[in-house]
Amino acid sequence: MTQRPPILVTRAVFPEVVASLREHFDVETNDADDIWTPAQLIERLQGKVGALTSGAERIDAALLAACPELRIVSNLAVGYNNFDVPAMTAAGVLGTNAPDVLTETTADFGFALLLATARRLTESEHFLRAGQWKKWGLDLFAGADVHGATLGILGMGRIGQAIAKRAAHGFDMPVIYHNRSRLDSATEAKLDARYVSKNELLQQADHLMLVLPYSAESHHAIAAAEIALMKPTATLINLARGGIVDETALVAALRDRRIAAAGLDVFEGEPKINPALLTVPNVVLTPHIASATLKTRRAMAQLAADNLMAYLTKGAALTPVNAGLIKPR
Ligand code: DGY
Repeated sequence: MTQRPPILVTRAVFPEVVASLREHFDVETNDADDIWTPAQLIERLQGKVGALTSGAERIDAALLAACPELRIVSNLAVGYNNFDVPAMTAAGVLGTNAPDVLTETTADFGFALLLATARRLTESEHFLRAGQWKKWGLDLFAGADVHGATLGILGMGRIGQAIAKRAAHGFDMPVIYHNRSRLDSATEAKLDARYVSKNELLQQADHLMLVLPYSAESHHAIAAAEIALMKPTATLINLARGGIVDETALVAALRDRRIAAAGLDVFEGEPKINPALLTVPNVVLTPHIASATLKTRRAMAQLAADNLMAYLTKGAALTPVNAGLIKPR
């Protein structure tokens, strides 16, 4: 029997996805779902031609130099800020991500987090569970309306557009957005979304949703100066990556009520949480679950596996991030 190419799956994934990989590859899995150090990852990657990663493993020049057989790293995530793309390209290693399949699920969650934050859902539930509810009150946990309020979207890719669609057509919200590149006028008209400068976005939004990719340029895109431009009644929702928001500045702003509330699904240094965030009541915190429905997580895992199969068996991946740039190893 000819030897199958060896690959590594770095985290526990659905058995049927592993089974589909086993039809083509010699697969090493991590059934215990341990979090490996960079050195442990390098050790397990020895001799492997492909890796299916969760999106948290750093793929940089040092790792690539230590793993000369590696040809493709397939992220089970749409975000790929864990990839040093220039280093991968220089090393001839293809990177792939998992777009599209999570768009609608993530947009749903954006609204869940926005509604929970604006309507003080978790704060009021904690109050009730703690036995503190003694009487109904006219302004008890009175929050902010979502319907009809102006939604600002920073980052207008697929997920931003799916959120805009819900906002304009489901919640009757005027939608403004800022993005590196402006949408064409037909798409803007279809979404009923208006392009504004970043400062206008910050100043005009009643609710601000962050859905932009994380990079050196977007690091702390929302810090003290940006928060200072926001309305004191505004809410801030981060679905993208923790590093986009300066959490220290956000905690100070939430404490001083310089903005009304925040909803965060992602954190700087997650899964560790800045302890100060846990002390402010006007923030809703969730553990990076925006794309977490079983159906969607299965589809993401299968797409990540399909990328490995397509590239290693046919030479072309389905959703590459640096194809055309690399000279394959
Ligand atoms: C993504 O796909 O990038 C989500 O944030 C899950 O990691």
